[in-house]
Amino acid sequence: MEISITRTANPKQKPTDESKLGFGMYYTDHMFIMNYDEGQGWHDPRIVPYGPFELDPAAMVLHYAQEIFEGLKAYRTADGTIQLFRPEKNMARMNVSCERLCIPKIDEEFAIKAIKTLVDVDRDWVPSAEETSLYIRPYIFATDAHIGVHATKHLIFAIILSPVGAYYPNGIEPVKIFVEQKYVRAVIGGTGFTKAGANYAISLKGQEEAERQGYIQTLWLDGVERKYIEEVGSMNVFFKINGEIITPALVGSILGGITRLSIIELLRSKGYKVTERRLSIDELVEAYNTGKLEEAWGTGTAAVISPIGELKYGELVMPINSGEIGEVSQMCYDTLTGIQWGKIKDEFGWTQSIDE
Ligand code: COI
Repeated sequence: MEISITRTANPKQKPTDESKLGFGMYYTDHMFIMNYDEGQGWHDPRIVPYGPFELDPAAMVLHYAQEIFEGLKAYRTADGTIQLFRPEKNMARMNVSCERLCIPKIDEEFAIKAIKTLVDVDRDWVPSAEETSLYIRPYIFATDAHIGVHATKHLIFAIILSPVGAYYPNGIEPVKIFVEQKYVRAVIGGTGFTKAGANYAISLKGQEEAERQGYIQTLWLDGVERKYIEEVGSMNVFFKINGEIITPALVGSILGGITRLSIIELLRSKGYKVTERRLSIDELVEAYNTGKLEEAWGTGTAAVISPIGELKYGELVMPINSGEIGEVSQMCYDTLTGIQWGKIKDEFGWTQSIDE
């Protein structure tokens, strides 16, 4: 399929101070759109000026939340190359989400081509200041104007771009996380392993409570026993306990993060012992009480590597590594971002130029 390109006649003013981009505050001049209609499949891929969609008020997504998304980034390196980080993993995961949400799958290679073409059209928007990147948000939603619950026949696949800085306001400074005991995010058999927008909608209530208590995000426990650690609002989570690095296993209710996978591969390549298994909150508290909880950090495309400096579980407040960034978290951050921004040789073959 050929991607048609209609350039805007009114380019926007780009943010002048790249050190103040924040996260998700600005959008570029163009977007990618492709439609799905039963009988036609995915068709009419096009890059058009960024702007609102026209949606029927009965559109299924507005009533039944049939929407999935992805998140990846483009990075500008010192020699001006613009590169993506493991986009094939995002597109493969997008199809996993499609499958679970009864959304017709996309052609993964074609979707990567669409991303590269769109980033190329808006390449001047890729920021170059330290710790900035262009966040890429592909998403699919059901547009059928029919409020009976039924299989989707019409959808839109869109991609928008946003120049961003750090996800958390204080960058790589350790964050404080609240262990959620009242609400749950996912259960095995549900959609927790997908990037369904609805997963994030149901997490807002816990997030609100965490924020009310001065914490930035929630750490979710499993939805059945409320015992096993799953993930944080927008990140997977890692703990260093007595020298061993442990991250919750992908049991079906946890998102298989691409940063998570990359950090496991990176740590193993450096000789660290990394174990993917169920980890109970009681075991974590025990490790804390016996001085064995050495480090904790979150991983995510938006959050990158985010050290956790404090956890609150009920009345128990657990400072970790005296609230400082730990040695392993720092190494993970430096190596991962070094590869992403082209400062370190990419021995893993994780990056690809948009011009490839
Ligand atoms: C990402 O890390 O890309 C995500 O999709 C998380 C989102 C909640 C910002």
